[in-house]
Amino acid sequence: MMMRVLCRIWEQGRERRMIPSSPFLVSFFLLVSVPVLFVLAPRILPPKTLPSIPDRDEIDDLALFRRATLASAEGGGGGGGLRRRAASPPKIAFMFLTNSDLSFAPLWERFFRGHERLFNVYVHADPSARFLLTPTPSFGGRFIPAKATQRGSPTLISAARRLLAAALVDDPDNAFFALISQHCIPLHSFRFTYRALLSDPGTLKPAHAEGVLRRRHRSFIEILSGEPGLRDRYAARGDDVMLPEVSFDQFRVGSQFFILARRHALMIVRDRRLWKKFKMPCLKSREDSCYPEEHYFPTLLDMQDPEGCTRYTLTRVNWTDSVGGHPHTYQPPEISGHLIKLLRKSNSTYSYLFARKFSPHCLQPLLKLSDSVIFRD
Ligand SMILES: *[C@@H]1O[C@H](CO)[C@@H](O)[C@H](O)[C@H]1NC(C)=O
Ligand SMILES: *[C@@H]1O[C@H](CO)[C@@H](O)[C@H](O)[C@H]1NC(C)=O
Repeated sequence: MMMRVLCRIWEQGRERRMIPSSPFLVSFFLLVSVPVLFVLAPRILPPKTLPSIPDRDEIDDLALFRRATLASAEGGGGGGGLRRRAASPPKIAFMFLTNSDLSFAPLWERFFRGHERLFNVYVHADPSARFLLTPTPSFGGRFIPAKATQRGSPTLISAARRLLAAALVDDPDNAFFALISQHCIPLHSFRFTYRALLSDPGTLKPAHAEGVLRRRHRSFIEILSGEPGLRDRYAARGDDVMLPEVSFDQFRVGSQFFILARRHALMIVRDRRLWKKFKMPCLKSREDSCYPEEHYFPTLLDMQDPEGCTRYTLTRVNWTDSVGGHPHTYQPPEISGHLIKLLRKSNSTYSYLFARKFSPHCLQPLLKLSDSVIFRD
């Protein structure tokens, strides 16, 4: 590449008779121009970046997010309060994010069985992986229009926002929005999970001017600051590019998998201000610090409603000996009743409800444990 550029310059120079054709001068010209190009090239050419969001996808998303915002305004469910229409119980939206398969669908089917009035399922499957999926009753027909996703790009944020928007539009009774990965498993029965979320005391917030306190659901999302490496993550798109929308003091990290209250789902779908910054692609040279989906949600929620979040996650993940940003992946020999009980234990008020990551080969051993351990609580 560099040689071709040099030859071109050389030929153009000759055509304009700028460079005499003496072998000595040729060598001299090359000797001088190579270091000059090395110094100038990085200043003239824009720095290399990782993949960004295609414009086409952005336009489609904006239309969907507008519909979700309007639907929530009309339905009156956008307030996120605990008052509900009589006769329709609140539901949990289970939002599955997958780029390869849904191996644990049979386990989730057992989890859902008998609770049809209390949940909805939504699946965002990478379009290139669709043919691998075998939809079972709860998953059949629950695929939302999806776009390709990639690690190290804001596409995973877009996928989660698409799921939130689809769930907001689909059912005003969706009160909690749980993001689940293809490697996630339930650690408790549906009944236990539903009760834990719906009976959480939430936060009290004055409603209107009368000073009446209204109970509001909390979101279960990890929100951390002061973590090592956070400064590098903040600068992954370039120094100071997050300003003025997000200062380093406001920048947070947390779990990519969360359970959100409805008003927070709406907050995220409506956001334009922070998204403008978080959708910027990372610099290629800072690839190691590029995990946009671990920052966007905790940063946004901590800026807009810190009291409304628990700051911890209910999805257990094992980061011991993690490799290349991937947590420990459990394999069949590790599966036991003891492991399930160990994974439930948490330091927060609540037991963990979900856990990741599990290899698809764990399905059979997990099914064997489902009635005797996992769903027996
Ligand atoms: C976490 O993963 C490590 C291996 O990376 C394993 O030795 C350990 O037992 C796991 N912890 C739990 C609680 O499963
Ligand atoms: C609970 O806290 C202790 C002490 O900080 C820590 O060692 C342990 O790993 C925590 N357990 C979980 C499940 O997070």
